[in-house]
Amino acid sequence: MIIGLLLFSNWYVFRVFEAEYLKTRQVTYLTHANIIAGAGGDYLARRDPQAHYLARNFGAQMQARVLMLDKGGAVFADSFDDNQIKGQVLKHSEVLKALSGSGSAGSHFLAGDGWVLYVAVPVLVGQEIVGAVFLSTDINDIHQALGEIRRRMLLLFFAGGTGAGLLSLAFAGALTGRLKRLTAAVEKISGGHLHQRVEAGGHDEVSALAGAFNLMSERLEKIDRGRRFFIASASHELRSPLGSIKALAESLLLGNEQNVEVYREYLQDINSEVDRMNRLTADLLHLVRLEEEGVRAPSAVVAVGELVCEVLGRLQAQSHCAGVNLEMKVEQNSRCRVNRDLLERALFNLVENGIKYTPAGGFVQVSGQTKGGSLTLTVRDNGEGIPNEDLPHIFDKFYRVDKARSRRTGGTGLGLAIVNQAVILMGGRIRVTSTLGEGSCFIIELP
Ligand SMILES: Nc1ncnc2c1ncn2[C@@H]1O[C@H](COP(=O)(O)OP(=O)(O)O)[C@@H](O)[C@H]1O
Ligand SMILES: [Mg+2]
Repeated sequence: MIIGLLLFSNWYVFRVFEAEYLKTRQVTYLTHANIIAGAGGDYLARRDPQAHYLARNFGAQMQARVLMLDKGGAVFADSFDDNQIKGQVLKHSEVLKALSGSGSAGSHFLAGDGWVLYVAVPVLVGQEIVGAVFLSTDINDIHQALGEIRRRMLLLFFAGGTGAGLLSLAFAGALTGRLKRLTAAVEKISGGHLHQRVEAGGHDEVSALAGAFNLMSERLEKIDRGRRFFIASASHELRSPLGSIKALAESLLLGNEQNVEVYREYLQDINSEVDRMNRLTADLLHLVRLEEEGVRAPSAVVAVGELVCEVLGRLQAQSHCAGVNLEMKVEQNSRCRVNRDLLERALFNLVENGIKYTPAGGFVQVSGQTKGGSLTLTVRDNGEGIPNEDLPHIFDKFYRVDKARSRRTGGTGLGLAIVNQAVILMGGRIRVTSTLGEGSCFIIELP
């Protein structure tokens, strides 16, 4: 494209030069011819041989051959002395035009002389055309000058074209080099090597792309690490009940126990380990489903009081056993548009935690307020509380403040992770405040 443009602009400029040069020369000689026509008109009309001297004088001054033609186009006077073409009728197009009344000029290439300019104008006496003045002059100088211009333009064209070509090659090389590096990194990622970073430098689109790519690869790595950690933790969690079951069963099989009561006791232990595994797998499935499907949470209008009542009812027995009081403080008739299933699941886990981590005699209180369609649910207890340094982690999978204790109470460490995921799916957020020894407060805010 650059070469095409250069060629076109060079050609165009050259044409303009050529036309300008020629026009100037033509105008000059047309003026000369008109002056001669004015001066020599009478001689020509009278066919006075003085016309010959006139032609010669003008010809010498103007560096041109001056011919005076009669109205038939025959040469009457010639600034050249040889008389060779005297009487000859000229048929040049300029002459014909002049004899029909209008002046004109044209350049011609003659084999012997090179470029010449022909100019012819009519000679008028009164209104009558009595003949024509015909000038022919050498314009090789113009063509020489034009040739020089053309030579320089070609030089400029080659220099410019080569420069532009080299420059664009260099630019393209730099650009494609960086894109190639990016492509290689993307290919490596799709081959499973997630740790890829590209250095792109500069402040252009490619470096922005590289930045976005690095961010993406960082996220991918983080997700991958999370996934590995999750699998490792899940197998670890499943292994400890399996280990217990194996140990219990083995000691029954290998020992020579006769007492049925011992059998019963061991089987009870095995049973509770199986329960634990059941809970764990159920929670794992819940969580994975919540995370994977993303559940395009269909929402419906829910009576908040009714929902809280139902959840507390399901936990009544558990709270009774633990000696913890369940309280409820929800505004009458408060309604909210949410996914009932998700909200129930979140609330259940929070209240269950409250019961589990509050000593006998304590309370768990659920309160709810709706305000302009948004709902705030608070689950507060006056239990053991959570140490400050653990607060940022308690929503992580398998995170427990006190492992031994949580296991004993049947916890899987997945409850709050499920709550968090459910709240995210509902488009809300969850906060927690807690004071060690005084109690905890979980606040769910839904839009
Ligand atoms: N209401 C609460 N009071 C004190 N500690 C809590 C409370 N809720 C959660 N925790 C702490 O957060 C941890 C994570 O909770 P969760 O994910 O529900 O696991 P789990 O209840 O199975 O142990 C618990 O092990 C516990 O240490
Ligand atoms: Mg829990």
